[in-house]
Amino acid sequence: MPKRYLITAALPYSNNRLHVGHIAGAYLPADTYVHYLRARGRDVRFICGSDDNGVAIEISALKEQKTPQEIAGFYHDRQKADFADLGIEFDVYGGTHHPDFVERHEQLSQKFFRRIHEKGLFTKLKTRQLYDPEADRFLPDRFVRGTCHHCGSDDATGDQCESCGNMIDPLLLKNPVSVITDKPAEVRETTHWYLRLNKFEQPLQKWLESKQGQWRTNVLNFALGQIKQGLPERSMTRDISWGVPVPLDDPDAQGKVLYVWFDAPIGYISFTAEYCAKQAGDWKAYEQWWADPDTAIYHFIGEDNTVFHALTWPAMLMAEEQYQLPTAVIANNFMNLRAAGDLKKISKSSTPADAPVWVEEYIRKGLDPDALRYYLTSQAPETARTAFDPDEFITRNNAELVAAFGNFVNRSLTFAVKYFDGKVPDNAAATDADHAQVAAGAAAFDKVAACLDEFRFRAGLDEMMSFARQCNEYFSERAPWASRKEDMADCAATIATCVHSCHMLAKLCAPFMPRAAERLLAMLNRPTDDVRWEPPPAPETGTALGEPAILFQKLEEDALN
Ligand code: MF3
Ligand code: ZN
Repeated sequence: MPKRYLITAALPYSNNRLHVGHIAGAYLPADTYVHYLRARGRDVRFICGSDDNGVAIEISALKEQKTPQEIAGFYHDRQKADFADLGIEFDVYGGTHHPDFVERHEQLSQKFFRRIHEKGLFTKLKTRQLYDPEADRFLPDRFVRGTCHHCGSDDATGDQCESCGNMIDPLLLKNPVSVITDKPAEVRETTHWYLRLNKFEQPLQKWLESKQGQWRTNVLNFALGQIKQGLPERSMTRDISWGVPVPLDDPDAQGKVLYVWFDAPIGYISFTAEYCAKQAGDWKAYEQWWADPDTAIYHFIGEDNTVFHALTWPAMLMAEEQYQLPTAVIANNFMNLRAAGDLKKISKSSTPADAPVWVEEYIRKGLDPDALRYYLTSQAPETARTAFDPDEFITRNNAELVAAFGNFVNRSLTFAVKYFDGKVPDNAAATDADHAQVAAGAAAFDKVAACLDEFRFRAGLDEMMSFARQCNEYFSERAPWASRKEDMADCAATIATCVHSCHMLAKLCAPFMPRAAERLLAMLNRPTDDVRWEPPPAPETGTALGEPAILFQKLEEDALN
C-alpha cells in the first residue's frame, strides 16, 4: 500500500466557464476518489489549477479585447468558484500564470527544459511558419484562416477546416490571412526545439505494458497503438510571447516560449511545491510527493488529454529523470448534451450561455450541487461517450434521490421523533430481518470500495444506491406503523435499525455527495466529519437525534429551464 497519494485533475484552460462535461470527465471522479481515500484514512493531496498559458488564452484575449493576464485571471476565479460550489475541494488550486504561482512555475518549468536540453534530447530544427508582417509576429495555427487545401471552402483555420473537418497544414492553406490584422500572411523561417520522442518508444511501451490489467484499456490501447505507429518528434517551443520564456542562451530562443503542453503538466509539480511552501514553509517538501516511490500519483483527465498524459508527459518525466511516473492515468470520454432528442457537443461557441450545462447557471438556479454530482456520476462517461439529458436528470432526481434515498431517511427519522421522542430506540428485540439489514449495509461498504478501488465510480454509485433502495424496502416490509400498535419492542428495533442504516448511508454516500452526507449526519446529531469508511456500530439507545429535514429536493419538470 502506498504511503501517500497525489491526485491531479487536468488543469482547465482559463478561457472558459466550466460545463458538466468537464466536471463528469475529470474533476468529479477525481474528487470522489479523494473523498474516498480520505475516508479510508490515507494521506492524500489533491492538486489542480488553471492552465493559463498558450495560444487558446491569447486568442480569447484577442477576441474579448483584454490582455491574456486579464482573461486568465477572470476565468481562474470563475472556475475556482464553480469547483467550490460543487464541493470539489482541492488542497491547492494554482495557475500557471497566476501571480501567486507564476514565479515557481516558471523556475521549475525552465529547469525541466534545461535538464532535457543538457541531455541532448531535443533536436533544434529550422522550419517555415506563417508570419504577420504588420503585427510583426509569427502566427500559431489558429491565428490564420484561409481556403482549405482539401475542399476549397473558405472556412478553414490553420489547424482544421470547419467544412470538411480535415486537418490543415497551415503552409498549404490557400490565401492565408492573419486573424489579428486581417492582412495576408507570409512564410518566414523560424527555429524550434523538438522532443525526441522516438527515443522513448521502448521504455514507454515497457512501462505501459506493465500497467496491463490495472489501467483502463481505452488509455492503454490508445497509447500502445500510437507507439506502434512511431512517435514523431514534437516541437516544445512556440513563437508567441505569452508563456514561459525558453531558458536557453541562444539567439534563436529569443522571444519564444515553451509549448503550453510542455509547461502545463509541470504545473502539477509547481503547484505542489507552492502548496508545500505555504503549508510547511518548505517548498522542497514537494519532492516527497513527486520523487518518492512510496507516493502513488494518479492523473484524472478527459479523453482529449490522453496522448499528453500517457505518452508525452511520461516521456518528459523519463527524460528529466528525477520524478516518479504516474501510477495511473484515468481518462474519461466526453459528455454531450441531449436537447430535444438530439445529441449536441457542449462548447462555448455552440451551447447557449444560459443552458443548464454551465456550472455557474446550475448553481445560480439554487439547485443542489449533490443532485448534479449524483446524476453526472450515474452517467459517467467511463468507457464511452454519454449524454447530459435534462429530463432524465429530473426524473432520476425525483425517482432515486427523493423517492428512495430521501424518503427512507425522512420516514425513519420523523418516526423516531414522533414515537420515540427523537431518541434512538432500543434494539434489544432485533429479529433476523433486522440483523440481515445491518449485514447488508456492512457488505455495501465492501462492494462500493471494490468499485472505487478500480475507478468504477458509476458502478460504485449503483451499489450505494441499491443499498438505499433496500433500506426503503426494509422499512416497508417491517411496517413499523403497524408494529407500533401491536409490538412496541419490535417497532423500536426496526426504527433503531433504520437509524443505524441512515448512518451507514451517510458514510456510503459521502464520497459521491459530500454535502448530503453532512446534512444527513446533522439529522443524526453526529459530527459532519464522521465519514470514516467503515460500517458504524449500532447507535446507542437513548442518544438524541437531530432535526429531520428534507435531504433531497423534489424538482419540477422545468427546474433546469
Ligand atoms: N488545459 C488542458 C485542457 O483543458 C489540460 C491540461 S492538463 C495538464 O485540455 F496536464 F497539462 F495540465
Ligand atoms: Zn475543407
